[in-house]
Amino acid sequence: MQSYKEFLQEILIDEETLQKRISELAAEISAEYAGKPLMLACILRGGVMFLTDLMRRLTIPHTVDFMAVSSYGAGARESSGQVRITLDLQTNIVGKDVLLVEDIIDSGHTIASVIQLLRTRNPRSIRVCTLLDKYERREADVPIDYCGFKIPNKFVFGYGLDLDEYYRNLPFIGVVRPDRYIPPE
Ligand code: PRP
Repeated sequence: MQSYKEFLQEILIDEETLQKRISELAAEISAEYAGKPLMLACILRGGVMFLTDLMRRLTIPHTVDFMAVSSYGAGARESSGQVRITLDLQTNIVGKDVLLVEDIIDSGHTIASVIQLLRTRNPRSIRVCTLLDKYERREADVPIDYCGFKIPNKFVFGYGLDLDEYYRNLPFIGVVRPDRYIPPE
């Protein structure tokens, strides 16, 4: 496997900046959901790093659960607009204040489909918290209630975001130099 240093074009958001912003988001969420039945619903897999840092900083009681979705169209790098649930929540969300936690919203199709599905289950509320908003690529109209950073349309990885499933562990958001990146066999 290549070291990320071989294809890193730039660090778009460094670790300190990420962590500081996550602390701010956690403080906002803690204030706004005080006294409410908050459930964080993380969309696997990219959202995991963000979820764990965010929840460590929440000062109010909350539960967590996970969902996984995949785009239709095998091998497609970009969302096709249709998603299917591959892992559903294990928790009943009736009457809960659900906060969806994502690493990135790109076309918006993933989060739009998840919201549409979860609304049918009668939660008290559903809101969206994303670390990154690649707003120039939006195709579906989705409300974003908490956003870490708006980012340009660059090929990003790290901090939960993968390149062919690797490099999710990096503590920063980097930009790939595609001409230097060699996909694993
Ligand atoms: C990414 C990301 C979002 C989705 C955003 O997931 O975590 O769930 O794409 O794209 P959209 O707004 O265009 O729908 P991905 O399918 O890469 O899976 P992963 O989280 O397991 O890496």
